[in-house]
Amino acid sequence: GIYTVRGTNRICTRLLEQPRRMIETPDQDSFEKIADEVVRCINCRLSKNRKNAVPGEGPESAKVMFVGEAPGEQEDTQGRPFVGAAGKLLTELLQSVGLRREDVYITNVVKCRPPNNRQPRADEAQACRPYLDRQIALIRSLVICPMGNSAIRALLNSEESVTTIHGIPFEVEGITYFPMYHPAAALYTFSLRKVMEEDFKKLRTLVDSLTA
Ligand code: URA
Ligand code: SF4
Repeated sequence: GIYTVRGTNRICTRLLEQPRRMIETPDQDSFEKIADEVVRCINCRLSKNRKNAVPGEGPESAKVMFVGEAPGEQEDTQGRPFVGAAGKLLTELLQSVGLRREDVYITNVVKCRPPNNRQPRADEAQACRPYLDRQIALIRSLVICPMGNSAIRALLNSEESVTTIHGIPFEVEGITYFPMYHPAAALYTFSLRKVMEEDFKKLRTLVDSLTA
């Protein structure tokens, strides 16, 4: 393996109860093409109340990809991911370990804002899934960070709580995942900020070890 971390194997076994399906992507796919489709998409009910869809942003060369839950009010207004209070904290956490927001890719499980910021439903996450899969296929990042339980459920196919698996990297079909708390959680529970800072340090070490 490329790394050894406490509990990795035990958790991998549980996470892999269902195999990940193959990602099917159109030939000549691009972020532009995905974004074009997302802003016109009516594949689930979340299309009804959005002001702007939020496809995601960042360079194709990004080594790290962050996946949140869903756009909030600010994101819906601006059409960009993580531009509100949680986004400000995410940017600060990145900076605290010498990573720049412009160098990472940031997106969400669903690309449209759920009413009253409720959690995305399973059918909505499923309807939106092809866009995320295509983004993952295009970007070939070293590490994908699901932030919070919605992203963990979607990406790791797991009901494991973020409380149990945050800060533990593991590999599934050649992709390294590093689950993290959602930055919004640290806005409500101040003590989580320290935990997130530690996880970002671990993420930096992981990225460095994969780049070395
Ligand atoms: N919370 C999320 O999960 N995603 C965003 O883009 C903003 C806040
Ligand atoms: Fe389409 Fe995803 Fe928006 Fe639903 S949330 S309308 S699937 S882009």
